[in-house]
Amino acid sequence: MFARTESFNKAPPLRSSWPESHTENPRQCYENSGVYNMKMMNWIKRGQPAFSKRAHLINYLIKTKNYKSYLEIGCRSNRNYDRIKATVKVGIDPKSGGTIRKTSDDFFRENDQTFDLIFIDGLHHSQQATKDVDNSLKCLNPGGAIVLHDCNPLTENAQQVPRDGQMTWSGDVWRTAIEIRTRSDVDTAVGDFDHGCGVLLSRPNSSPLVLPKKITQLSYLEFENNRKHWLRLMNAEKILEFIR
Ligand SMILES: C[S@@+](CC[C@H](N)C(=O)[O-])C[C@H]1O[C@@H](n2cnc3c(N)ncnc32)[C@H](O)[C@@H]1O
Repeated sequence: MFARTESFNKAPPLRSSWPESHTENPRQCYENSGVYNMKMMNWIKRGQPAFSKRAHLINYLIKTKNYKSYLEIGCRSNRNYDRIKATVKVGIDPKSGGTIRKTSDDFFRENDQTFDLIFIDGLHHSQQATKDVDNSLKCLNPGGAIVLHDCNPLTENAQQVPRDGQMTWSGDVWRTAIEIRTRSDVDTAVGDFDHGCGVLLSRPNSSPLVLPKKITQLSYLEFENNRKHWLRLMNAEKILEFIR
């Protein structure tokens, strides 16, 4: 069990531009939760905002945009799924968690439901992630949003495909995130927290990207050198502005 230290208790105030009245205000969640862990302490030490989790972003979108229906692709232990506050929730995973035991491809083949928000966090291979994005766009309600997890691998090892025993593995979802930026019909940016949370909105692309070569031909080094620009990486405050 992690013991709270004096320096932790004296951590600087959390930086956040979330509306104070918001029930999903991460600062409030944090202060009320009584849960103190290493990760959170490290975020604070690094001066990062407290809303560093995908669930905060998703619940913020649901609340502010009055979304009702939520689909999560890839649920595993329901760590994120259980935190999401939506009227209608569907979770698919071939192995565990959620409500439907299927792969995303099998689900979309038969699905006739539509959703306000879709969180994509299934197989982290760019080919599959791109397929998940395309299928999700087809069943997204007008004005809806997609959140794509793991767009921003922090090391080359974390993005190797296939997975080779890495504890932290984002796969090459970054290719999907970058490819979406070249589309004219989707506006997208990536939140620079929690391994990169891409936000995809179905509206004209406000910052289209032109890539020097095919997405499959890009090396990790090229990605590394252009990460911020290509992903349209934004801190949490900027992502809130982007969402509005
Ligand atoms: C990174 S975990 C999901 C974590 C979860 N979303 C969270 O935030 O706590 C990835 C999950 O995707 C599932 N998965 C793998 N291939 C899939 C596929 N083709 N379709 C849907 N889910 C898949 C795995 O079984 C695994 O549980």
